[in-house]
Amino acid sequence: MQDSKTALIIGCDHAAFSLKEKLKNFLISKSISVHDAGTSSENSVNYPEFGIKVASCVSSKKFEKGVLLCGTGIGMSMVANRFPHVRAALCADVFSAIMSRQHNDSNILVMGARVIGDILAEAILNAWLNTSFEGGRHQLRLDQFDNINNLT
Ligand code: RB5
Repeated sequence: MQDSKTALIIGCDHAAFSLKEKLKNFLISKSISVHDAGTSSENSVNYPEFGIKVASCVSSKKFEKGVLLCGTGIGMSMVANRFPHVRAALCADVFSAIMSRQHNDSNILVMGARVIGDILAEAILNAWLNTSFEGGRHQLRLDQFDNINNLT
């Protein structure tokens, strides 16, 4: 495997296979290493399988960041956010993607291939990759829900 600290891991279900391939090409054109966790065709699969693959790698810090795609993005974000240290952001616009990095330090970007077009998905991914976490008061807020077991 390439340097997994700087590489991205990407996964999808059948509904987003075509978008995944396009985003992979986009990442490669930007010289960003990408590890493809599948799926590998438009044959019907169950999205949790691929959500778990990507989210577990980000949760264990094997990869710093990941991208998950399904039809709406809803199922993938539900799966991903069950993992410790995963902050998956379902985004359908560039502003939300930027804010999810600046304020929420999102480490998985989720998009719905049946919700947004390929060009917008590319723009969202580009903005997400190029935005840093602001830290400060936002880190205190993240700490509150990273320690959620201590609150209940
Ligand atoms: C697959 O038909 C669809 O349910 C899935 O891609 C996703 O939208 C689930 O949230």
